[in-house]
Amino acid sequence: MTLKPKDMNKEEFIKLGYQFVDWIADYLDNIEDYDVLPNIEPGDIKKEIPPNPPKGNDNFNNILKDVDEKIAKNLTHWNHPGFMAYFSSTSSGPGILAEFLSAAFNVNGMVWKSAPASVELEERMIEWLREFLNISNDFTGIIYDTASVSTMHAIAAARESINLEIRNKGMSGRNDLPLLKIYITDQTHSSIEKAALTLGLGLQSITKVKTNSNFSMNTAELEKEVKTDLAKGNIPLCVVATIGTTSSTAIDPVNEIAEFCNKNNIWLHVDSAYAGVISSIDEYKNIFEGWNKADSIVVNPHKWLFVPIDLSSLFIKKPEILKRAFSLIPEYLKTEVDEIAVNYMDYGIQLGRRFRSLKLWFIFRYYGTEGLREILKHHLQLAKKFEQWIDEHKYFEKMAEVNFGTICFRARIKNVDDENKLELLNKKLMDEVNHTGKIFITHTKLNGKFVLRLVLSGIRTEEKHLELAENILDEQLNKLIKGQALDG
Ligand SMILES: Cc1ncc(COP(=O)(O)O)c(C=O)c1O
Repeated sequence: MTLKPKDMNKEEFIKLGYQFVDWIADYLDNIEDYDVLPNIEPGDIKKEIPPNPPKGNDNFNNILKDVDEKIAKNLTHWNHPGFMAYFSSTSSGPGILAEFLSAAFNVNGMVWKSAPASVELEERMIEWLREFLNISNDFTGIIYDTASVSTMHAIAAARESINLEIRNKGMSGRNDLPLLKIYITDQTHSSIEKAALTLGLGLQSITKVKTNSNFSMNTAELEKEVKTDLAKGNIPLCVVATIGTTSSTAIDPVNEIAEFCNKNNIWLHVDSAYAGVISSIDEYKNIFEGWNKADSIVVNPHKWLFVPIDLSSLFIKKPEILKRAFSLIPEYLKTEVDEIAVNYMDYGIQLGRRFRSLKLWFIFRYYGTEGLREILKHHLQLAKKFEQWIDEHKYFEKMAEVNFGTICFRARIKNVDDENKLELLNKKLMDEVNHTGKIFITHTKLNGKFVLRLVLSGIRTEEKHLELAENILDEQLNKLIKGQALDG
């Protein structure tokens, strides 16, 4: 047994690094050789990894062999062009290389002094992103890991903004605190309810405002709910409006909601974690009209801007409120430039932070804003094409408006009217389609109905992959129809 007391030497790093880069390049180039979704059961992978760590060193070739045989083989491949599930997020070459470099620098951006270039590049990348997304200069921003965390910080800022001394006194054991209310819809992402849990507001703070037939928030209903709460002595703390909801990509009427919130002094947070990048395209700008009147906005470049997960951006008009909520400076972190530099530890719960902005910088420079827009437009065109295919199909029906790159649909057979049977049929169809290994789609429920979702936002997804998806859907549905002697 030999022990390795030190880090790799330069020669070893170069040799293994090249081997590793070759492995990644082959992986991405041949990714379609893998099934998008591995055919395995929970627990299968753990059986292949020894329960104890090795006492001595292992050979890098063995490690790479295990990456091939135990890891890559057993992954759901998000970078696969047939990955059309959830909100698919794909990583690009420049993003992967930036991630590599970020690990090499290994800086911890707690304060300016601990990572000056990381802090200032983040400030600049927020400005670049703000310009790309047509967000007004009234906002500044910060990068967190995920939209859930961005939103939690936005709601914490909203809570701080109402001056109830929660920072000092907390919320427990107080008789002087009224109920603080957050308004969402039944289509809003669960991360908002999780933020309420985290911030001690509790689920009782959540009001789900009724939606219109297109799943968007009904502003008149919002106004009614707020009025009722005010009459009870509750405090309307925050409205979360979504542009691009998780299930159907519905669009809340942000402009109307913003006007109402501004008039009534309620914090408006806009969740556009998925669709926000589309605000960069002129023809779609009107959808985002009004988000500049919000107090905070979240957009996730890791969802649809080809940044390897994770990178979420929170834009906020009054960062000083966020700072007031979170800044707490122990002696050992005080520096001589605290008055003039940004210390990101002041704007959230985490102290240590990764050098994420490098990924955005590489991607903006590699593609340029025009290049990025072209890729996004291509996805939107593919979505239109698939929508048309569904509209013209004998056995499929569209279940929601197609606003961006996500299509909600289901199989509908003439002699099957029962909703339970339709659910079983669509679930079976989804499973069979996913078993082919060629594409991966997921489901949701809209108005209680089981609905299939197909998402087109992968950087490697081309028209041929969409055509393949259409063929697979056709083929698998026909098999089910024949097998179950349906319609005909
Ligand atoms: C609209 C919306 N908001 C928030 C989230 C949560 O994103 P994250 O995984 O970055 O926390 C999602 C996830 O899909 C989402 O669709």
